[in-house]
Amino acid sequence: MEIDLTEVGMHKGQQYEIIITTIDKDGKSNAAPFGLRVLENNEIFLRIFEGGNTIKNIKENKEFIVNVTADPLMFTLATTNTIPEEYLTRISKKTKSNEKLAYLTDADAYFICEVISLKTSFREDDPIKATEINFIKAEVVEINIKNKCAKPINRAIHALIEALVNYSRINIVDEKTQEYFLERFLESERIIKRVGNEKEKESIQILKENLISQGFDL
Ligand SMILES: Cc1cc2nc3c(=O)[nH]c(=O)nc-3n(C[C@H](O)[C@H](O)[C@H](O)COP(=O)(O)O)c2cc1C
Repeated sequence: MEIDLTEVGMHKGQQYEIIITTIDKDGKSNAAPFGLRVLENNEIFLRIFEGGNTIKNIKENKEFIVNVTADPLMFTLATTNTIPEEYLTRISKKTKSNEKLAYLTDADAYFICEVISLKTSFREDDPIKATEINFIKAEVVEINIKNKCAKPINRAIHALIEALVNYSRINIVDEKTQEYFLERFLESERIIKRVGNEKEKESIQILKENLISQGFDL
């Protein structure tokens, strides 16, 4: 069957927040959240800072698993590096029975990826940190859907909803809170421009024009 990421709600050109699970050469599993961009229906792109376990394991094994989940606890435990081993299921890839992979047992879907290319560059001007960044292109070789309603997390819709809530309150709060809302608006706009879809981008623009027409300085 042809690999098609739209089956797990992922569309070309869009970015999603997912959890990557890997296993190191001593057999120790690791889970951490990352942003993933869809290049093609069977191809993804990752941008991973040097220094973590995931990138080390990906460089060693050239394969990894992407877990699609909206479970807040999974994201939190993955970020704090405290996902217990019992939350993972170990598997062997169909084609390479000796190699072990692991996925999050409760993930709505997961897919196996093989690295196509891995380029490393140093970015002194990176807004997050001046360090080596790895740019990874990977092919999706197997998709497993456990929940037909699997929907990957996208930061833009959350940023938009927060901006809408603040918008609905902006005329009933004091001036200091208004300033705070406007700062938050700019941050939501930045996120949506970076990772949002066309509807989310149109929505934040409508909101901006409304705020400007009400006399707010944006
Ligand atoms: C939602 C979310 C998205 C993230 N996206 C990325 C990313 O795209 N690239 C990256 O290098 N780090 C990203 N991080 C930070 C890594 O998850 C973090 O550095 C983590 O400690 C790496 O863990 P590891 O050492 O187990 O690989 C993200 C964190 C969160 C919470």
